[in-house]
Amino acid sequence: DWTMGAYREQAIEAIRAQVGDKQVICGLSGGVDSSVAAVLIHEAIGDQLTCVFVDHGLLRKGEADEVVTMFRDHYNMKLIHADEQDLFLGELEGQSDPETKRKIIGKLFIDVFQKYANEIEGAEFLAQGTLYPDVIESVSFSGGPSVTIKSHHNVGGLPEKMGLKLVEPLRELFKDEVRALGAELGLPPSFIGRHPFPGPGLAIRCPGEITRAKLDILREADAVYIDQIRKHGLYDDIWQAFVAILPVRTVGVMGDGRTYDYACALRAVTSVDGMTADYYPFSHEFLGETATRIINEVPGINRVTYDITSKPPGTIEWE
Ligand code: XMP
Repeated sequence: DWTMGAYREQAIEAIRAQVGDKQVICGLSGGVDSSVAAVLIHEAIGDQLTCVFVDHGLLRKGEADEVVTMFRDHYNMKLIHADEQDLFLGELEGQSDPETKRKIIGKLFIDVFQKYANEIEGAEFLAQGTLYPDVIESVSFSGGPSVTIKSHHNVGGLPEKMGLKLVEPLRELFKDEVRALGAELGLPPSFIGRHPFPGPGLAIRCPGEITRAKLDILREADAVYIDQIRKHGLYDDIWQAFVAILPVRTVGVMGDGRTYDYACALRAVTSVDGMTADYYPFSHEFLGETATRIINEVPGINRVTYDITSKPPGTIEWE
């Protein structure tokens, strides 16, 4: 795409002019926006960029490895893999209130990011994958729900607190333009087309108390579900799809025995912007096949339900 080619060149020049010979820190979530921002900035200033990837123990199956492999090994970026699973899961232990869970995660995220960022000698800039709609939203709907959402994956308030200046090379772009720029920069199509993933991660797909055992079951079930969706060629028709593990165990039969395992809910929605959503009309055949696979392949789950709530009145996530 020639437009994005030109944008890329211009953006690289602008980043070099802004940053000079100073160091830049970037919080990398593995999401499309922060990834495209990181790759672009890395192309502009190479080793003057250090990315910090916070692993809060609430990521999907294989996700941390994928991010580290891609950015450290493939793009040769300086990347700090902040493995803070014990810290996050420890603080979350025994907590079942949705708002409390979110607050704990948000606060720890900022603490952890700051701790690692402080170790980067001479950092003067913080890079963020802020998009044009984020800029507009934070001006006109200050305090509204989407600001709360963004404050989780952008490290809200941190630049001021740490005396860092912002580098925001995607500020003029819409989501589809960010995807085009990502493609221009050589990010794999499967990566660019990924469904959105919330900052608090699996915490809000595990209603009630979070345990490592439940998270492990959830990760396996989610991987089977997404595999089914990809195999049936439905991934790109869906805005977001995931499994939620329910805080209830139910009785089942398997072989000669009785089981007493967790129930889970499958979620899949279509949406334009995440503000409203409709449940995805899977065929009964797809649902049946998927339920069978999850129950056969994932120890710990013996019942599968499909969430047919639209938004509103439901939210997309379960908490
Ligand atoms: P809900 O569940 O509110 O979600 O209908 C709408 C969209 O926002 C995502 N989401 C979040 N993203 N931090 C994020 O970065 C959050 O705390 C958060 N909560 C919800 C959700 O995945 C969906 O795409």
